[in-house]
Amino acid sequence: MNNLHHPNFETPLRFWHRDAVVERHHIPPDRTLLDLLREDLRLTATKEGCAAGDCGACTVVVAEAVDGCLHYRAVNSCIKPAQAIDGMALWTAADLAQSDGTLHPVQQAMVACHGSQCGFCTPGFVMSLFALYQRTVAQGQAVDSHSAHEALSGNLCRCTGYRPIVQAACSLQADAAQAVDEKPIVAALHQLAATPQTDGDYLRPITLPALLQARAQHPQAQLIAGATDAGLWITQGLRRLPQIIDLTRVAELRRVERYPQHIAIGAAVNLQDAFEALAVDRPVVAPFGERFAGWPVRQSGTLGGNVANGSPIGDSMPLLIALGAQVVLMAHRKGKVVHRHVPLDRFYTGYRQSLLAADEVLAWVVVPRPAPGEWLGAYKVSKRQEDDISAVCLAVQLHVQDGHITTARIGAGGVAATPARAVQTEAALIGQPWNETTLAAAQQAIAQEFSPLSDLRASADYRRTILGQLLRRAWLESTGYKTIRLEALA
Ligand SMILES: Cc1cc2nc3c(=O)[nH]c(=O)nc-3n(C[C@H](O)[C@H](O)[C@H](O)COP(=O)(O)OP(=O)(O)OC[C@H]3O[C@@H](n4cnc5c(N)ncnc54)[C@H](O)[C@@H]3O)c2cc1C
Ligand code: FES
Ligand code: FES
Repeated sequence: MNNLHHPNFETPLRFWHRDAVVERHHIPPDRTLLDLLREDLRLTATKEGCAAGDCGACTVVVAEAVDGCLHYRAVNSCIKPAQAIDGMALWTAADLAQSDGTLHPVQQAMVACHGSQCGFCTPGFVMSLFALYQRTVAQGQAVDSHSAHEALSGNLCRCTGYRPIVQAACSLQADAAQAVDEKPIVAALHQLAATPQTDGDYLRPITLPALLQARAQHPQAQLIAGATDAGLWITQGLRRLPQIIDLTRVAELRRVERYPQHIAIGAAVNLQDAFEALAVDRPVVAPFGERFAGWPVRQSGTLGGNVANGSPIGDSMPLLIALGAQVVLMAHRKGKVVHRHVPLDRFYTGYRQSLLAADEVLAWVVVPRPAPGEWLGAYKVSKRQEDDISAVCLAVQLHVQDGHITTARIGAGGVAATPARAVQTEAALIGQPWNETTLAAAQQAIAQEFSPLSDLRASADYRRTILGQLLRRAWLESTGYKTIRLEALA
């Protein structure tokens, strides 16, 4: 560890587990929750599979108190810094059965439906089912196949096969005798939440000014939100992060604000909530959002983190570029809070580089509301339907009047060093009749506009070809063909 940057003191960690507050000291900021559980606390029910957020074996459930109720999330403990669950309640697979051995309904359903074989993945599946149970069955709702698939989308099983596990999810029945007694937990969490951490090796500011000050005072610290990218730098890149600023507790940034002309999505809003907020105006965003990673990553990762991380194969940026989104960057300079708006299509300056200055935080993603007559298509091409990264992503926003294209904005991913706007292709469309001739010209333009790479996800030729095919899909769908949803063919 770099002593030069080692902060003055270590931040204590406190969370609710098994009817009591657990308090631990001297937890390094980059210690993962999985390592805390298995190695420090010797709670070995939670398994390590990939240590990369991919397989779901390490899934645990955390809950925060929101408006007097618990808000449950399944998370990948392998990539979550342990300190990130401070002030939350935690359940692992060892916490579900009653002390007399009576199984929880989710465990009972897995037994009844033969949902386990070698069992390595089972603790993770059970925890994803527990989160689903708490969100739906415990609230009096039945689990349908769609919500079962969604809830299990971050869990891989190599030997049972998924059908019995999905059947287990769909067969879940409420058992009042095993309901979580939320009242004492909510009260305990309120007590814990009263202590924001604004100094030390793991900073958890709870207001925007405090976050900006922390960023200014600790420029060497690693800023994180959901840590679904940053967690992999620890487990896969073997990087040490001696000081972390965690922005997920900042009250102002946990909000989605809706205005007549735009919506503003705070940087602490998770991907699931962000896609749902965008889908209110643009329903096509919902199925596109479901293709982003799997449920636990969407529950932890943020839209702000996706944009700030700036991967050329990040999924949200092509969509946001097509929608004309801006980012609001904020900093604390010379005793004042300053901010600037940057259109997302001008934010990136190179491979994983952007205009974000060292003392700035991406505070908001601002997305214009749709103008009348907007047509939007958003497509992701990847090898797996769920829990996979894009080979190519394309989002197309059009306005067509009297058969002619009046506006076109196109965002593309997986085809350049940064998420990109397809300005030449837009130029080939604007003012033209929306017919097969214009489509052919646009397909030619988009094939020439980008020089994609060949890599393990796709060859350059495939990427170039698929861009044109996705434009054709947009043409078919926008000119009245039934929406082509490959998922619907299953
Ligand atoms: C299994 C798995 C599947 C994935 N699948 C996909 C996928 O399908 N599509 C996709 O696009 N991505 C995917 N990802 C990548 C990741 O989930 C996303 O990029 C996510 O949006 C990152 O958000 P975060 O909040 O976790 O960011 P973090 O990991 O916390 O941070 C990432 C980077 O962004 C910076 N940052 C975060 N928030 C801010 C802010 N507000 N201001 C300034 N800088 C900030 C951090 O400093 C860090 O450099 C996947 C990851 C995993 C582990
Ligand atoms: S161990 Fe595979 S997702 Fe955590
Ligand atoms: S039961 Fe063996 S990996 Fe799922």
